[in-house]
Parts: sequence; C-alpha cells; structure tokens
Amino acid sequence: MAPSDRREFLQGLVGAALLGTGCGKALQASTRSSASLAEDGLRRHAEARGLFYGAATGNRRLKEDKAFADTFVRECGLLVPESELKWQVLRPAADRFDFANSDWMVDFATQHGLLVRGHTLVWSQRLPAWLTENAGTANPEQGLINHIQTVMRRYAGKMHSWDVVNEALEPTDHLPNSLRKSLWLDKVGPDYIDLAFRTAAQADPKALLVYNENHLDYDVRPDEVKRQATLELLSRLRTAGSPVQALGIQAHLRSDENRFDPKKLRDFLAQVAKLGLKIIISELDVADASLPADITTRDQAVAAQYSAYLAAALDEPAVTGVITWGLSDRYTWLSEYRPRPDKLPVRPLPLDADLKHKPAWDAVAKAFDAAPKR
Ligand code: G3I
Repeated sequence: MAPSDRREFLQGLVGAALLGTGCGKALQASTRSSASLAEDGLRRHAEARGLFYGAATGNRRLKEDKAFADTFVRECGLLVPESELKWQVLRPAADRFDFANSDWMVDFATQHGLLVRGHTLVWSQRLPAWLTENAGTANPEQGLINHIQTVMRRYAGKMHSWDVVNEALEPTDHLPNSLRKSLWLDKVGPDYIDLAFRTAAQADPKALLVYNENHLDYDVRPDEVKRQATLELLSRLRTAGSPVQALGIQAHLRSDENRFDPKKLRDFLAQVAKLGLKIIISELDVADASLPADITTRDQAVAAQYSAYLAAALDEPAVTGVITWGLSDRYTWLSEYRPRPDKLPVRPLPLDADLKHKPAWDAVAKAFDAAPKR
C-alpha cells in the first residue's frame, strides 16, 4: 500500500474510532470553550487539533484497577501494551506463542474505542532465554520472519501502528552505521531492519510501520550523534525502498536537563519529514529523580519540560500524535528504573498517583490547544 493510501486508512481509523465511541463531538471541539475542554481528557485536546493522544500501560493495571481503567479510557484515544507484545511475554518457547495478555489488551481497546499501537516486533532486549541461547537461534532469519508474520497477522486490521524495529542504533557500540550490538545484527546481519519492515508490510498492510528510537532529544553530543545516525538509517531504508513509514521518538526526558534546544529538535523533525515520514512522540515522560523534594517545585519543573518539548514538536506538521509512557504516577517504569535518592514517589506523568490532574496535565493540554491544526 502506498504511503498516501496508508494515511487515508489511518485517518479513516481515527474518524471511525471517534464516531464509534460517540466522540464525533470532539471533531467540533475547536469551537468549544476552553472551560468545557478542561473537563475532557487529553485525547479531546489532541483530537481537536487533528492529533491523537494515548498512553502505555500493562494489562494488570487495567484489569485490577477500575478507577485507573476508567480514567485511562477518558484520557486516552490510543493504548500501547507496555510489555504484552514483547518476545519475552509472547514467546514462552520456540514453537509456542502465548497471546493471552496481548489479546486481552487489544479486546479492551476495541471495546472502549481506543486505537492500539504494537510495541515491539524487533528489539535487542526482552528476548526469551531459549532464543538467546544458541539452540534457539539455529535459523534466526526464518525465526524473525515467522514471529513478525504470526504476531502481525493475528492483529491485522486492528493496529494503528507497529514499532517494527526498536532502538537499533547505539553509536557508542562503534559498529558500522552506528548499529547497536544485538542478537539480530549478530545472527541475521545488518539487513535485519530492512527484512523486518518488508515482512511487516506484507503481514499487515494497514498498520503504520514505525522505526522507534531513544535519546534524540537534547542538545548534547550523544543525542546529536544519535540524531545523525537515525537520519542516515531512515534515509538508507527509504532509498532502498524499505516500507518504513514513521519515526517514533521516545522522548524519555529528564527534568534536570537544561540542554533542550527547541531549534535543534525542530530541525531534526523537519529533516525526518523531508524523507516523507510521519513522526510520533512515542514514549514521553519526564524523570524527576534529580529535582528537589518539594512537590510544587518538582511538578512545575516537570511541566515546564512537557511545555517546551511539545511546543517544539507539535510545530512540525509531520507529528501526528503523542503517547506518554504511562498516564498516572501510580504506575510508571521510572519508579523501578529511575527512583529518587530520597525514596519519595516519582512524579513524571500527567496525572498524580490519585489520578488527579497535575501541572504536567495542564502543560500537555495547552500544548495540544496551541498546536497548528492538522
Ligand atoms: O512480568 C514479570 C512478572 O512476572 C514479575 O512478577 C515482575 C516482578 O518484578 O516482573 C515482571 O516483569 C517486568 C516487566 O516490565 C513486565 O511488566 C519487569 O520486572 C520490568 O523490568 C519490565 O520493565 C519494562 C521494560 O520496558 C522492559 O521490558 C517496563 O515496564 C517498560 O516500561 C519498559 O519500556 C521500555 C520500552 O519497551 C522501550 N523504550 C524504553 C522503555 C522504558 O525502559
């Protein structure tokens, strides 16, 4: 399917999701007062500007925490299963797929009129032991093709987009083309990325096919090198006719980071757009581990990062939507991966642990309200 056809399909999907859930009103939201918008979830602010907003979460959060699930459905127009589509969860054995958790997530999304984004088909991490051990990788190329085909075909037509390949670049590994050391590079070779996109395009011609990458955000040398490597990778793929259609920019931000230069980000986004690609801000959150304990100070600093980043990102017309990596501070990977030294609960997301709006929520809503209409 040509990129323009895919775009039309996606627009249709978004429209259908809006109408199917009685949210056609959102399409007229730009004519409504900001007071009335403030009562709506973030998805309405996004949709009023022709964007989408969603979040990642896990199936147990939605199953076991009704207040969280209700809030999720009110705030979000799209759901990303945070772990359920990773190899480690899907592939208990070489000859077996376990779709119980991912099926539940896709059903939940369908029932509640949410788009679903698949994360992720090819990544160097979260691989099962049977695969990382030699016995499991006798025919890794065929194994990769089989995995992509089986998983994508199961959800074909239901997915807004797929992170076909995640985090394939790591300049500090000092390999050709800045490719990251990984089982896939090692066992399949450098063309594994192209192979994955070509296999994906056949397996589900309707899903938007995304290359997802981290550390692209700041005006620091490692991010600059990563941006350049990403542009080169995307450019090589496009030239070779590989069906990559969008870049996912993870945007795991750090609230103590003063080196954000909006112009650098805008220039990068414009270069990606010039390659004919869409852009999704795919895993946004703001780590607060280095900020002072005082909650007001912390929340303002986190909100300021959301404001500055989204003002720059949403200025680029190729950016189609924003996903936060979690919705409420009640559930965030940062509690485990980037805890505060003083052990206070972290506050990186739009809603607090009581599911109440924080300054970060206001910052995201305002950024959507100020975004040029798509
Ligand atoms: O599934 C086991 C469960 O059986 C066990 O009881 C529990 C005990 O700790 O652990 C569970 O596994 C956890 C898994 O998520 C599933 O929830 C792991 O401990 C935990 O480390 C794992 O972390 C996830 C991480 O990716 C690795 O898969 C995070 O939640 C998730 O937010 C994070 O997401 C990544 C993206 O995929 C790629 N980009 C960066 C992003 C943040 O690291």
